[in-house]
Amino acid sequence: MEQAQDALHIQPPLWPQILIMEDEMSVAKGLELVLSEEGYTVDLAMNGRSALDSFDRRDFDLLIADLRLPDIDGMEVIKRVKHRRPDTGVIVITGYSTVPSAVEAMKLGATDYLSKPFTDDEFMSAVKGALDEQKVLHAGAAQAAVAKPAVTVLEPLPEDLQQVHDIMAQIRQQFSGTREELIPMLQKVQNHLGFIPEPALEEIAHFTRTPAASVYGVVTFYEQFRLHPVGRHIVKVCRGTACHVKGAERILNEIETRFGMSPGQTSDDRMFTLETVACFGSCAIAPVVVVDDSVKGRMDPSKTSEVMAAVEPADLDPNQS
Ligand code: FES
Repeated sequence: MEQAQDALHIQPPLWPQILIMEDEMSVAKGLELVLSEEGYTVDLAMNGRSALDSFDRRDFDLLIADLRLPDIDGMEVIKRVKHRRPDTGVIVITGYSTVPSAVEAMKLGATDYLSKPFTDDEFMSAVKGALDEQKVLHAGAAQAAVAKPAVTVLEPLPEDLQQVHDIMAQIRQQFSGTREELIPMLQKVQNHLGFIPEPALEEIAHFTRTPAASVYGVVTFYEQFRLHPVGRHIVKVCRGTACHVKGAERILNEIETRFGMSPGQTSDDRMFTLETVACFGSCAIAPVVVVDDSVKGRMDPSKTSEVMAAVEPADLDPNQS
């Protein structure tokens, strides 16, 4: 196991805890990659509500906050976070920068205000400045962060790594390593493994002489690609307006509590992968949960648990379809 962890370059969470609140998945994933390459522990929140929920669950040292979100105004989230935990560092990132909003952000305690697009260097400089200011890079604070409960992340298994090794050997034989071949290479990895593990992504980046962040951007841009192991069954919870109003978040909380996975994650036994969608077009029977191809309407947390518990391990394996 230790060898597998070495091979995966897994680092213990010795760095400050950072939450990125950003509703554009490609931007969020790109920033996550930049930060994780620097060794930081990063969580993502795709809207204001889930950012506040994340702060309810645990402490973060730094909030990287987009301002335009699908639910709550980003500035309002900053206000609430600062009210609860005044020592939280904040960096605003926005595609709609204005002087008044920059002034308001600074008044609320933001240490930096970045207008999109910004470079990785500008971003990292803002992050390091904010962390220095909060003094969270001090060893004592870092150790305190380590002691807090970490979110479960399912990592590739040793057999996945062997498969990465095998598939990369094939790729090196079949492709010449040009950037134009990036997508076919990624497809080959995903067809073989069902997802694209980080080591494969890094090897493809190296093979095509493309920055890993750019490869990551391609993977997150196309919905066909997965970055995490896929479960034998896909559970989709609708987070559209009708379903949200009727309790979609309670269903997600139940799944997280009962099966230990947040949206985008796979259960430890690789039985389920949890996803969220914006709307299934079945708002009349909200809240809606779809297990594989079976649509379940008027769901609640306990019905969802029952449906998931009733799924047989031997049911359809999506990797084989
Ligand atoms: S909002 Fe959930 S089905 Fe439309």
